[in-house]
Amino acid sequence: MQPSHFDLFADHEPEQQPRAEQIGEQSWLLRGFALPIVDQLLPVLAAILAAAPLRHMVTPGGFSMSVGTSSCGHLGWITDRSGYRYSSVDPLSGQPWPDMPLILSDLAHCAAERAGFADFYPDSCLINQYVPGAKMSLHQDKDERAYAAPIVSLSLGLPAMFLFGGFNRNDRSQRIPLLHGDMVIWGGVDRLRFHGVLPIKHGQHPQLGEQRINLTFRLAG
Ligand code: SIN
Ligand code: FE2
Repeated sequence: MQPSHFDLFADHEPEQQPRAEQIGEQSWLLRGFALPIVDQLLPVLAAILAAAPLRHMVTPGGFSMSVGTSSCGHLGWITDRSGYRYSSVDPLSGQPWPDMPLILSDLAHCAAERAGFADFYPDSCLINQYVPGAKMSLHQDKDERAYAAPIVSLSLGLPAMFLFGGFNRNDRSQRIPLLHGDMVIWGGVDRLRFHGVLPIKHGQHPQLGEQRINLTFRLAG
């Protein structure tokens, strides 16, 4: 058993731990949850993206996505003209995706636990890069084999306005500003909620420059 990076939270009194904000029956916003390890995490992320570069995938309808995408872990989410799915191979390289580093899987595990989801061991980490203007339309995460595990999302870099909706596309969405280091977790009865991201505004982040990166951890297979 390797030590958890989150031993650093172990000595913290509960009241010093990041505050959890409930945004749905089984949905939580953990403000700044990743900040204690974010400086260790950024070089790890850069190494993944050197091995599996960001690329603009094409939707089944033939549109190029505004976000640049890559993955690490056993499975990576992909899209092309034949559909949305998970693949154990990066279609750009023909090679398996880079391994998911412990610092990422631990972070996702600990965030899920804090949100009431014990035993979350993601096999997929989707990396989405948003430059100013890039967005993510309202959608449900439905390409996973089962929906028992939560979705765990980490925001890095420029701020975003996250839309957290209901179970029908036209249901009213909450608008939740997400900042560097924030995490959102939704699962259980909320697992299939629609969600999306408004176009990212221009700005400069001190560590990431003119971009937002979102990591989405899932149990896909
Ligand atoms: C997604 O739903 O795939 C991305 C969400 C985000 O960027 O916050
Ligand atoms: Fe999603």
